[in-house]
Amino acid sequence: MNTILRIAVQKSGRLSESSLDLIRECGIRFSNGGGKLMSSAQNFPLEFLFLRDDDIPGYVADGVADIGIVGENELVEKEKDVSLVKRLGFSKCRLSLAIPKSENYEGLKNFESKSIATSYPNILASFLQKEGIKADIHEISGSVEIAPGIGLADAICDIVSSGSTLLTNGLKEVEVIFKSEAVLVANNTLSPEKNEILKQLLFRIDAVQAGSNNKYILLNAPNDKLDLIISLLPGMKSPTVLPLATAGWSSIHSVITEDEFWERIQKLRQAGAEGILIVPIEKMIL
Ligand code: PRP
Ligand code: ZN
Repeated sequence: MNTILRIAVQKSGRLSESSLDLIRECGIRFSNGGGKLMSSAQNFPLEFLFLRDDDIPGYVADGVADIGIVGENELVEKEKDVSLVKRLGFSKCRLSLAIPKSENYEGLKNFESKSIATSYPNILASFLQKEGIKADIHEISGSVEIAPGIGLADAICDIVSSGSTLLTNGLKEVEVIFKSEAVLVANNTLSPEKNEILKQLLFRIDAVQAGSNNKYILLNAPNDKLDLIISLLPGMKSPTVLPLATAGWSSIHSVITEDEFWERIQKLRQAGAEGILIVPIEKMIL
């Protein structure tokens, strides 16, 4: 029987769309319509389990799923024995303490002897212990943001992404205690066959990530400025230089990271580059 790797992804929520997009960008085709709990890829040995994000670390630790995409917040909170294979860079958010916006905030001592509602009792407890604050942690599983309004707690500790949930509930963020992004986790005892499939998947994820972090750059340069302009372009090995029909001019092609591009564009222009084009890269194999 052919080995199939089973991946757990969030059924619906902040991570779902981006998790599935990443797998699609890896060239893996599957259907996830109709609120199904499971699905199989059509062209890669991968099977999907659609779960609540809170359950993903546990299912991967138990081997019900081999790998999973989950927020680091759930991974750290659940304290399950799984390996963090790769940071994925999407669904970035923070776990923060928030209080009613009418209250003054003077620092962590505000929380001394107060009650804090949260779905993250472990992360919060270790933060408070480290800071030497004694507070009463009130664990609730959802709608944490309404707790102060209904008199259930003085403050909350919850995930903040855009901040709109806090805003609509009359709360203000006063301390960030943990920063999170989506991560790929794996069971610690994968068979060699499953590990091989995971390696192939990681190869594709790396290519997709490198592609989205890099841009293909084309520009025209007078030949007497070529050396200077090339020195401003890192490239994968060295840039490609092609003669233009106009005598004395060349076209330079290279690869540049998005961050580097904005930093170097002015220098490239000052050095005499013209007709600069930036083109997205779909996949990049390093
Ligand atoms: C978090 C948190 C808020 C919301 C904050 O929920 O509990 O409800 O996101 O986002 P905002 O700052 O953009 O308004 P999460 O997505 O983790 O859902 P879950 O707890 O149901 O898994
Ligand atoms: Zn959740």
